[in-house]
Amino acid sequence: MDALTCLLCLALGCLLYAVIQFVRFLKADGDLTLLWAERFGSSPESNLRGSVVWVTGASSGIGEELCYQLAKLGASLILSSRREAELLRVKKRCLEISSLEEKDLLIVPLDLTDLSTHQAATDKVIKYFGRIDILVNNGGRSQRSLFVDTGLDVYQGLIGLNYMGTVSITKHVLPHMIEKKRGKIITISSITGLIGVPLSTGYAASKHALQGFFNSLRIELGPYPDIAVINICPGPVQSKVVENACTEEFVQSVGAKTDQSHKMATDRCVRLILVSAANDLKETWIADQPYLMIYYLWQYAPTWGWWLTQKAGQKRIQNFKSGIDADSTFAFSKKTS
Ligand SMILES: NC(=O)c1ccc[n+]([C@@H]2O[C@H](COP(=O)([O-])OP(=O)(O)OC[C@H]3O[C@@H](n4cnc5c(N)ncnc54)[C@H](OP(=O)(O)O)[C@@H]3O)[C@@H](O)[C@H]2O)c1
Repeated sequence: MDALTCLLCLALGCLLYAVIQFVRFLKADGDLTLLWAERFGSSPESNLRGSVVWVTGASSGIGEELCYQLAKLGASLILSSRREAELLRVKKRCLEISSLEEKDLLIVPLDLTDLSTHQAATDKVIKYFGRIDILVNNGGRSQRSLFVDTGLDVYQGLIGLNYMGTVSITKHVLPHMIEKKRGKIITISSITGLIGVPLSTGYAASKHALQGFFNSLRIELGPYPDIAVINICPGPVQSKVVENACTEEFVQSVGAKTDQSHKMATDRCVRLILVSAANDLKETWIADQPYLMIYYLWQYAPTWGWWLTQKAGQKRIQNFKSGIDADSTFAFSKKTS
């Protein structure tokens, strides 16, 4: 083989490799570090078994599914949210699908916006289990309304719930982790914690605030290398988040159920959250395409990212105004849950 043929073969090999990697990227549903960790890193089964995990927002959606998957892993659970009847339902199901016993599950009803109750709730958990290995800051609410139509109460409410509620629980739990010199603080942020999204100005602001808070806290916790601060940024996932989203007033919810089948299945999102937790990944992006590409563009080629979100954003507003799910026209394929 002469030098030219060798060079041609090498170039073809490189091209083929690039095409394969591109196709893999098109099929990816998480950032590349996360997918690497899923394949080669610690598994949730080996890393999380036997942990004591406090999940806020455990009565629905991502939090509910987290409880089921953690229960199957043998983690003891503290289930919190406002609706006690729903927490009892989730607890019952956890007992049915796992080898956990009644004593392994504690229900602590909690309103994240009522900061004055968070110390007592934390004391109750510590008194019962003696420790909190993992805090999952998951409870929260989204928004579907344009800024020009929206009252300031929405902005106060979303910061109060998504940001202050999360900071407050973390404030009470962290000293116990510092005392033990270990723990994981997992916060379900959002793609809107990283990029701008129309119809969600207040929600995006609250999630951006969480990103800034936890990225700074992680640095402060440098002297405690076994306390991990993990920010999870999902794109659209099947849950009741749209139904529960506030509109022009904080007390008003979207209410209507819209088709969510184009969004990532809840169980897949939760599996990737657990992989992130098992591997102490600082920030993970969990989303199908085309959303995953948007995270990468905003991070590495923001001018293109802004251009694309400007175009897609107008479509999102149109979708919402016409009564369909704002994100329904972007998905490449339908998902199953
Ligand atoms: N689904 C998505 O597309 C998506 C994408 C990115 C990020 N996220 C984030 O994922 C988290 C979970 O949302 P989800 O999608 O599972 O939505 P969801 O089905 O609406 O669940 C929200 C949970 O938060 C709880 N919650 C709401 N207000 C609360 C309050 N004042 N105090 C305590 N708990 C409260 C709810 O319980 P109660 O009503 O019983 O209090 C419920 O358990 C949220 O932080 C959301 O921002 C979701």
